[in-house]
Amino acid sequence: MNKEWVKETMAGRFPSQWLDELRARADIVSVVGSYVTLKKNGHRYVGLCPFHNEKSPSFHVDEQKQLYHCFGCKAGGSVIQFVMEMEHLSFPEAVAHLAEQLHMPLPEMQHDPAYEQRRSLKERIFLANKAAARLYHQHLWQPEGESILSYLKNRGLSDAVIRRFGIGAAPERPNICKTLMDEGFTEDELRQAGLMLTRDGRSFDMFRNRAMFPIIDAYGNVLGFGGRAMGDAKPKYLNTSDTPAFNKRLGVFAANLLRKARGLKRVILVEGYMDVVALSQYGIEGVAATLGTALTPEQARLLNRFAPQVLLAYDGDSAGQNAILRGLDVLEEANVPARVLVFPGGLDPDEFIRQEGIEAFHQLKPVSAVEYRMQREKEKYDMSLEEGRVQYAKACADILRKVREPVELDSHLKRLALETGIEKTVLMEQIGLRPAGQHTPSAPRETFTRKANRPRATDPQTDQAAHTLLAVLATGRLPKDIVTPEEFEDEHLRALCEALLGGSSPAALMEQQPDDQSRAALSGIMAIDTRVDDEGLRKMAGDCLNKLRRQRLEAELQRVEASLPTLPEAERAKETYRAFLLTEQLKQFK
Ligand code: UTP
Ligand code: MN
Repeated sequence: MNKEWVKETMAGRFPSQWLDELRARADIVSVVGSYVTLKKNGHRYVGLCPFHNEKSPSFHVDEQKQLYHCFGCKAGGSVIQFVMEMEHLSFPEAVAHLAEQLHMPLPEMQHDPAYEQRRSLKERIFLANKAAARLYHQHLWQPEGESILSYLKNRGLSDAVIRRFGIGAAPERPNICKTLMDEGFTEDELRQAGLMLTRDGRSFDMFRNRAMFPIIDAYGNVLGFGGRAMGDAKPKYLNTSDTPAFNKRLGVFAANLLRKARGLKRVILVEGYMDVVALSQYGIEGVAATLGTALTPEQARLLNRFAPQVLLAYDGDSAGQNAILRGLDVLEEANVPARVLVFPGGLDPDEFIRQEGIEAFHQLKPVSAVEYRMQREKEKYDMSLEEGRVQYAKACADILRKVREPVELDSHLKRLALETGIEKTVLMEQIGLRPAGQHTPSAPRETFTRKANRPRATDPQTDQAAHTLLAVLATGRLPKDIVTPEEFEDEHLRALCEALLGGSSPAALMEQQPDDQSRAALSGIMAIDTRVDDEGLRKMAGDCLNKLRRQRLEAELQRVEASLPTLPEAERAKETYRAFLLTEQLKQFK
């Protein structure tokens, strides 16, 4: 693929008709089918999701809407997005990849000012960050970076690893924002990038006298920085706060290196920048860190794109160990297989590998999530007392109740029986299993954690009707003028309706979603089952419209009735009549 061409395309925009044709010719069913075994089921094809580990298929490809959606991990998108995820490519790279396979010549890029403006702030921030990273790295080798370089050397970092991570120095002086402004960046851009701070009309560099770790995503964009203070200055790490180009909850440190390391069997997730760097220096590939916050479901899924399993390798202190329990819950909820690496003596991975060496690191045996949870329970009780062993067994029963694999359950039960002296059959009863060799419980087992509480904007029934209506509209098989944007109260849904009516394909809409969350939300909507004939579709639309209209009238009626007592006499009569009219209208729907 021509790298220069790809770079150039970032400035412009693919013509939307050309993209429509590319998607149509690529055909999502055959592209996905070359990675995943699919079984046909109506307009849909079903298979095992390539983005998370699963045993029963919840991954759907909709031939009609040309979209994929996983009901398990909520991944979803167009054929272009599928190629982006599978091959770790940027959007223009994935487009070029498909075009090459289809022998479609690449188009003249279009210049669309509105589109460019939307993209450009983000791209300007990436450019400013990249320029800043370059400057920090240069300063490290200059006299003004000397103290920072010797700090890094004292901590054992090699020149090679400093270069691999592009680690730099934000010196006390000179002011790097000034240099960036000489290079053409505006104050506003630098502030938005989080590089410049303005207080009482005076501007400063955000980062001064710190060792700088650039945070780079899988596509090579510099999202932001973590800056390590020299000595005991506070905060120890100063991170770029969220910007239009950076959200700490979505990214991880060293995603760029994860992408390069192909065919990883596991990703090691550590707490700190220094831990990633140290393990990498000792030749361990596939290490990443969250960005100073607890692990999120988005990050769990991101890591799972690079490897089928996550190894949690947090600090050996009590804060780290408690973060492991929460991390395991998050990973489990996101359906990402996980194990744990425990470092003795409260060490963090950086300290451990430098003190004990690479051999000792390889000797550490990963423990399963269940085993880890049981170990943690054990610490709470006095196992020399009968009472302690009983309490421990009860706590473990709660953990083991969620184990799905009978052979796994059996091995945990054997261990627990040995530890507590309680018979296996009794332990099984405690779990709620009949001991007569029947391993499978009759009732379906719950998962470990509660379902994520999603904030709800409106009432669920209205949502459901509005979502279904959009899904029906997206089939493109509804007669014109049945649905208008005004039917949608929610601003976001209304915009989606307008785009669909304006001729955008569902696939194009998916590609336009600004972040993973809105993409997952739209994917869920588009995956609503609309496999009925045209008559059935019209009826589905009619039912939804009725529900939406009735709910609008009811809401209006409630507002009017609530306002009545506070109104002056004259207006009250008018509003009472309006309430009467609304009630009459509502009767139509009953
Ligand atoms: P730690 O305090 O464990 O730091 O924080 P560390 O990695 O061992 O760092 P060194 O070895 O003292 O240099 C772990 C991670 O938490 C975030 C950073 O991402 C850090 O790497 N953190 C910590 C912050 O964001 N801010 C802080 O002030 C401290
Ligand atoms: Mn450390």
